[in-house]
Amino acid sequence: MPLPYVLLSAAVSLDGCLDDTGPERLLLSSPADFDRVDEVRACVDAILVGAGTIRADNPRLLVNSPERRAARRAAGRPEYPLKVTVSGSGDLDPAARFWHTGGAKLLYTTDRGAERAARSGIAADVVPLGAALDWRRLLEHLHDVRGVRRLMVEGGGTVHTQLLQQGLADELQLVLAPLFVGDPKAPRLFGPGTYQPGRLRLVETRQIEDVVLMRYEPTAPGTGPAATAADHHWLSLACRLAKRCPPSETAFSVGAVVVAADGTELARGHSREAGDPVVHAEEAALAKIAADDPRLPGATVYSSLEPCARRASRPLPCARLILASGVRRVVTAWREPDTFVEGADGSGVLAAGGAEVVVLPEYEERAKAPNRHLAG
Ligand SMILES: NC(=O)c1ccc[n+]([C@@H]2O[C@H](COP(=O)([O-])OP(=O)(O)OC[C@H]3O[C@@H](n4cnc5c(N)ncnc54)[C@H](OP(=O)(O)O)[C@@H]3O)[C@@H](O)[C@H]2O)c1
Repeated sequence: MPLPYVLLSAAVSLDGCLDDTGPERLLLSSPADFDRVDEVRACVDAILVGAGTIRADNPRLLVNSPERRAARRAAGRPEYPLKVTVSGSGDLDPAARFWHTGGAKLLYTTDRGAERAARSGIAADVVPLGAALDWRRLLEHLHDVRGVRRLMVEGGGTVHTQLLQQGLADELQLVLAPLFVGDPKAPRLFGPGTYQPGRLRLVETRQIEDVVLMRYEPTAPGTGPAATAADHHWLSLACRLAKRCPPSETAFSVGAVVVAADGTELARGHSREAGDPVVHAEEAALAKIAADDPRLPGATVYSSLEPCARRASRPLPCARLILASGVRRVVTAWREPDTFVEGADGSGVLAAGGAEVVVLPEYEERAKAPNRHLAG
């Protein structure tokens, strides 16, 4: 199921704290950075915070700039992004500013929390998600029912930690403020638990007055049938690689990337690469990796088109090459149509060989784009 693009936003002190323990909210960002945050808010469909942040900070979470609100209206969007919070307990102050400022509000909670919220007269749409709160279900609901395509999450640490650990965060926008908190009881950005192995990708650093913005993307592939944010990133790269293929009237243009479990890119390839008129994308990528590379069994192959099941130009089709390499997870955007081979079922070959195949149809149009002349 497609999910919104999830952007985590936070400011931390040099000792990694989100706040101090005083009654007032600690201002970590600089004025220009608060304005940048306002701009990011203006570009999203919804802003989410945990109930802990509502209790601690009593935030409004508005787009403050009248010009940005006017631009949203002019684009046919609501003046303010939807405000979303999560609470298992439903223990929320109905007088909090969150409920009485800005546009529409939404509370995701448990069945018990919904009863409590109803009793206290919370002014919001309340969506109970059963006995416990499941983040993937919550994001699916936001996407499918509320039309949220871009979600900004503004804390706190409990919420950020879960979204990152569950592979549901597409991007982390972290601002480092030049001050120390020093209080061992102060809330930290990320708690203990299992994070992605390996390193995240640093995509930007920006000095804004005396703070530094760092933007990171997760890199580690998922491990089962559910796609992670990093899976989306890699499949999107495979679709971009497909655009580099020399044109052909007799073969698809496909891009592929092979990624180790810790998020290291092992190789990439595309159809008809390096002057070989028949090489396939997955074949070109796998050929760049030593056959005994110990990272292959834990790796994921991303291919804009399902790996081929039959081919005349080489002894082995790509589905068999992938199985022979030891890779046991494939993420693809588009099942192979009957254009050149009738009833090709690379996914079936892979699954029969013990590989997990994940199809993300929301990328199908991008995978098809360099092949329009064939499909037509
Ligand atoms: N510097 C920054 O950028 C920044 C930004 C935001 C917040 N903050 C700071 O962060 C602190 C608050 O962080 P926090 O970690 O205590 O709170 P939080 O992450 O804002 O909210 C945690 C609460 O959300 C609900 N929740 C989260 N995950 C849940 C799940 N899986 N199931 C059910 N309920 C769930 C629970 O509410 P219930 O308890 O109601 O069940 C939980 O107590 C504050 O000090 C605030 O100032 C700083």
